[in-house]
Amino acid sequence: MAEPGVKKRVAILISGRGSNMAALIDAAKAPDYPAEIALVVSNRPDAAGLQRARQAGIATALIDHRSFGDDRAAFERALDAELTAQHIDLVCLAGFMRLFTPWFVTRWSGRLLNIHPALLPQFKGLHTHRRALEARVSRHGATVHFVVAETDAGPIILQDSVPVLEGDTEATLAARVLEVEHRIYPQALRLVAEGRATFGGEGTARSGLASPGH
Ligand code: GRF
Repeated sequence: MAEPGVKKRVAILISGRGSNMAALIDAAKAPDYPAEIALVVSNRPDAAGLQRARQAGIATALIDHRSFGDDRAAFERALDAELTAQHIDLVCLAGFMRLFTPWFVTRWSGRLLNIHPALLPQFKGLHTHRRALEARVSRHGATVHFVVAETDAGPIILQDSVPVLEGDTEATLAARVLEVEHRIYPQALRLVAEGRATFGGEGTARSGLASPGH
């Protein structure tokens, strides 16, 4: 278990609107929440979430991947340096649209979380809602998992599902799943920050918990 009273310092990495980021920032306002959002990093200057983070009084950093050209390793070293300088304990990917090299993933192993808009291991990768509709699944959802080198393949921390309804479009299904994302990401971060879900530990296979117990 985490040391009582010592909040984990969390960085959220975004590329876009940042609604999951906002959900994590909101959750972390609770006095008993075991993590504080210390930093928001974007790889894109136009990410709407950056402005949202600033308005919430959170420190932000822009590490524009384009300024590193094709040098993915240099981008990751700059990101790692920023996270280290800010004494970050845990990193949450929230709509961060860059893949990592094994170097970065190994370095942050067990401390790097991602949210994926599907019930993993179903629908890894992009366009999950479209693919779920095409596959005519009856339930769809979202998953928070630890990041490993293989995309969307790391141990699951939490996931929950919603029904796919007659007449659903990508947009209506995405909106229903997004509500799940906003609920489970703060719960999953709590589990990790409290040491109750650990990489490779027993706590990584919790599934469908509306509210993890204490
Ligand atoms: C979410 O659906 C997330 O699961 C996916 O990208 C989207 C990001 O949305 N990886 P937001 O930026 O958190 O609003």
